[in-house]
Amino acid sequence: MESFIGVFDSGMGGVTVLADLVEAMPCENYIFYGDSINAPYGIKSQNDIIALTDKAVEDLIDRGAKVVVVACNTATSAAINYLRDKYPIPIIGMEPAIKPALKDNVGGHIAVMATPMTLKLDKFNSLIDRLKGKGKVLKISSPKLVTLVEKGVISGNEIESYIMEIFSDYDAEKMESIVLGCTHFLYLKRVLMNIFGEGIKIYDGNIGTVNRVKQILMEKSLVTDNQTKGSIRIENSLSDDMVKQSFELFNKYQELKR
Ligand code: DGL
Repeated sequence: MESFIGVFDSGMGGVTVLADLVEAMPCENYIFYGDSINAPYGIKSQNDIIALTDKAVEDLIDRGAKVVVVACNTATSAAINYLRDKYPIPIIGMEPAIKPALKDNVGGHIAVMATPMTLKLDKFNSLIDRLKGKGKVLKISSPKLVTLVEKGVISGNEIESYIMEIFSDYDAEKMESIVLGCTHFLYLKRVLMNIFGEGIKIYDGNIGTVNRVKQILMEKSLVTDNQTKGSIRIENSLSDDMVKQSFELFNKYQELKR
């Protein structure tokens, strides 16, 4: 097989990144690996996250990936430096889109929804420190949401009431925007709009990552010569059913993100 872009996530969240990559670069080949058997990563130790991410990334590289996209904010925060030191190929990660949210901010609160590990680690906190004084950023930790999305629950009462519970300590009136700092949460835009109203501004890091991948492929002359649609393979450590569900989400995502 011709070389491919390897995409990795702890589960089905990174399928949103895969879908945005395919939309931007349809002629490339892709292999996506979701480690649902070990999800959620966000409540594990940093060492465990490094070990699991390394195993998946090593496998993609051994199979011939030309670049690897870590389509998971948690794995990026915990393991990206380790991976970049270890492997010679470009490894691209995720960054919560706090900068654009702050740029557009007109004085309301910005809620960053992410896993406990992402919110705890230096990568996130030094980003917040650098942007200090530019607006009010609230950290909203939501570990159970990853588990619900992994079960395919992306709409309905259960997820709406859980999100309302997470936000119950905060003043919804003051909420101006939400930054989705976990790729699993990109499926929840509609639910968040039901709760906070159509006017809520929602940001995610996918565009930033896709643009970075494009730029790196060009800089390193790694863009495919292929002129037709490339191949897309989805694998999952838990089951074939998760592969099926991931493909369903992949196909539904463009509609979900509107
Ligand atoms: N998609 C992962 C992220 O972006 C979910 C983390 C988890 O497995 O807890 O953070």
